[in-house]
Amino acid sequence: MAGTEPLIISGPAAVCKAKKLIFASIGHSLLYYAPPMQVLGLETSCDETGVALYDTERGIVAQALHSQIELHAVYGGVVPEIASRDHIRRLLPLVQQVLEEAGTERPDALAYTAGPGLVGALMVAGGLANGLAMAWNCPVIPVHHMEGHLLAVMLEDDPPAYPFLALLVSGGHSMLVSVGALGDYRVLGTTLDDAVGEAFDKTATLLGLDDPGGPALAQLATSGAEDAYQFPRPMLNRKGLDFSFSGLKTAVMLEVRKAKELGKLESVRADIAASFQRAAIDTLVAKTLRAAKSEKLERVVVAGGVGANNLLRTELAAQFSGQVFYPRADLCTDNGAMIALAGAMRLADGCKADNIQATARWSLETLARPQT
Ligand code: KG4
Ligand code: ZN
Repeated sequence: MAGTEPLIISGPAAVCKAKKLIFASIGHSLLYYAPPMQVLGLETSCDETGVALYDTERGIVAQALHSQIELHAVYGGVVPEIASRDHIRRLLPLVQQVLEEAGTERPDALAYTAGPGLVGALMVAGGLANGLAMAWNCPVIPVHHMEGHLLAVMLEDDPPAYPFLALLVSGGHSMLVSVGALGDYRVLGTTLDDAVGEAFDKTATLLGLDDPGGPALAQLATSGAEDAYQFPRPMLNRKGLDFSFSGLKTAVMLEVRKAKELGKLESVRADIAASFQRAAIDTLVAKTLRAAKSEKLERVVVAGGVGANNLLRTELAAQFSGQVFYPRADLCTDNGAMIALAGAMRLADGCKADNIQATARWSLETLARPQT
C-alpha cells in the first residue's frame, strides 16, 4: 500500500477506531485503511477459477471467472486432478487480465480460498497468492470459502446490519448460521448427507439435463406441475435445524425409473422437476423460518449457488416477515470478489499468514473473532 500503514497495526486505539469504521460502513466503503486499499482475491476451491480486484472505497474494480463445467461434464462430477490442472492453466492469465482491466500494477494485499474444498485445487490459489505476496511484499490472507459466501452480500449497495441469519446453500454445503458479527458464527444446522445444490444437480442428471443442473432444473420446472408428485419434505417433521436431501433424491430416482419403464419419462420430466424443486425449497424455507424464529433474528441473508433460485426467493419474500438479503446472482455462485472482500475484512482485523493453507474440511465456527 502506498506509504501508509494500516490503522490496525498502529496500536489499540487505532484498532478500536478501525473496528468502528468497519462495522459502521460495511459495503462499498470499508474505511479501515487510509488511503483505501485494493485486495486481489483468488478462488480455486472446486471447479471455478475466480479472480477479482476489490477496492475498499470503490467496490469491485475488475473480476474474471472461468468455469470448468464442460471439462467435468463427461465424468458426471468434478474430477479433482483435472480441476487442479485446469486451475494451474487459468489462474495466472486471469490475474493478469484483472490487473490490466483495473489499470493496477499490483494490489495492496492478496486473499485466497484456503478451504474447505479440494486440496489440490486449493493449493493452486494458495501457492500463487503466497508467491505473488512475496514478490510484491504485501500481506496474504487465507479465507474460508463459506465465510466468503456469507459476506458476499456486503458487496451490495444496501447490505444487512449484524446480527443476521445466513442460509448458505451451494453445491457442497447446506447450512444455517447465526451471524453475530465478523467471525461470530454459530452453525445452527447443516446437511446430514447431500447438499441441496448437489440434490438439484443429481436430479437434473436423472432428468437428462445438461450441467449446471440447478439452473437447468429450475428452468424445466417452470413448465411443470409442482403438485404432480408428493415428494418427501426431508426432516420437516423432526425437531432441529439439520437438513437431509438423500431421501428426496432417492424418491425422485424411483419415480424416474418408473416413468422410464412405462416409457413416459419425456411427458413427466417437467412435473418431476417442479415437484422436486417445490419439496427442496419448502424444506429450506421452513427450516429458515424456524431458525429465524428461535434465534429471534429479523434479517436473513441467502448465499451460495442455490440462492439464485427464483422459487426460494419468492417463497422467502412471501413467508418471512423480516428482511431478506441476497448477493446479486453472479456473487451467489463461486467468485473471486467474495474472497477479496472477506480478505479485506480479515486484514482489517490484523489477520495475516506466511504459509500456504489448504484445508479440505474446515468448520466455520473455528474462525477467529475480531480481536477487540
Ligand atoms: O456456490 P456454488 O457456485 O458452488 C459451490 O460452492 O458449491 O453453488 C453451485 C450450486 C450447484 O449445485 C448449482 O446447481 C446450484 O448451486 N444452483 C442452483 C441454481 N443456480 C445454481 N440451484 C437451484 N436453482 C438455481 N437457480
Ligand atoms: Zn461455493
